[in-house]
Parts: sequence; structure tokens; C-alpha cells
Amino acid sequence: MKKIDIKDYAGDILKALPGGLLLTTKADDKVNSMVIGWGTFGINWSRPVFAVYVREGRFTRAQLDKNPEFTVNVPMGDYDKNIITVCGGKSGRDIDKVSDAGLTLVNPEVISVPAIKEFPLTLECKVIYRQPQELDLLPEDIQSRMYPQDVPGTYPMANRDPHVTYYGEIVAAYIAE
Ligand SMILES: Cc1cc2nc3c(=O)[nH]c(=O)nc-3n(C[C@H](O)[C@H](O)[C@H](O)COP(=O)(O)O)c2cc1C
Repeated sequence: MKKIDIKDYAGDILKALPGGLLLTTKADDKVNSMVIGWGTFGINWSRPVFAVYVREGRFTRAQLDKNPEFTVNVPMGDYDKNIITVCGGKSGRDIDKVSDAGLTLVNPEVISVPAIKEFPLTLECKVIYRQPQELDLLPEDIQSRMYPQDVPGTYPMANRDPHVTYYGEIVAAYIAE
């Protein structure tokens, strides 16, 4: 594992985000990765923070509420697009995504959640704050586009559920090998 200074990789992380990063969690001994296309990378409370936005009904939400730690896994170069199909379209409630997507777990440095060899740029994060979003406070066009109230929360893409913001303090950063 090669330690990195996150400032040197901020651009790479933001460029990779729209194509999908992985947000990996571990609770009750189950490791689960979901695709994220949104995230905010910066400084809060004088600490380096990566904030993720997880809809209330996601399996990942239940995992994070049990064990408030996560890794953010960023691809470097080519990778198997089936990883995005499985981790972004199926729920860890129903399947074992680690085996179905062919992910290789790498022992973490500080937290209890592993890194992912196939998405090697790794941020280990500890949740220091969580905040359920209130749909009423969002502009009307975002409410209607992102939160269609006729789509149940079990649907893997946009649905009626609001997001919960999890602010993860970045406690280690490296390229997993
Ligand atoms: C490109 C892409 C980006 C996504 N971004 C997010 C996101 O930021 N937040 C979210 O809650 N779901 C997002 N999703 C949907 C989840 O990845 C998907 O619902 C996943 O199946 C949830 O897994 P889980 O139920 O195991 O937690 C995204 C999906 C794709 C394909």
C-alpha cells in the first residue's frame, strides 16, 4: 500500500466521481460496496472530510448506522464495468456483491472496513456527523427530478427517499496493492 497526500489526488477523485466510485461498508461481518456518483471533498471542522449522500432505504444506510466507518474506492485506469452494474444496480440486502462483482478485499490501515484492489485509490473515513436531508428545503425542480414520490425506496436509482449526508473524516489515504 502506497500512502498518498490527498491534495495531490483531489482532481483525480473529482474526475472519477460522475462515472462512479465505490462506497464500502462493513457491519455484522458483511462487506458491501455501493456505487456513488455524488460526494463532496474538502475541509470541515478543520479536518479533511469526504461527505457521501445515501438514500434512506439503501442497504448501505443500514450498514453505516451499525458501523459508522467507510472506505471510498476510486478507480485508476481501466476496470471491469460489471462492478458498476452489480454495485450500482443490486442491493447488498439480496446478494453478496463482493463475490458477484469479483471484488478483492485489502486489509485496512486504521478502520475496520477494507479497501478494494480493483478500485485502488482509497480514503478511509470515520463518520463524524450525519444529517438527514429535508426535501422541503430543496428547490422545487430538484425535488421533482431527484425524488419522484411514486417510486418506492427499494428502487436502485432515483426514488422517493431523501438522502442522509454522512460526513466522513479522512483518517488514512493510500493506493491499495
Ligand atoms: C453511477 C451511479 C451513481 C450512484 N450514486 C448514488 C449516490 O450518490 N447515492 C445513493 O444513495 N445511490 C447512488 N446510486 C445508486 C446505488 O448505487 C444503488 O441503489 C445500489 O444498488 C445501492 O446498494 P445497497 O442497497 O447495497 O446499498 C448510484 C448508482 C449509479 C449507477
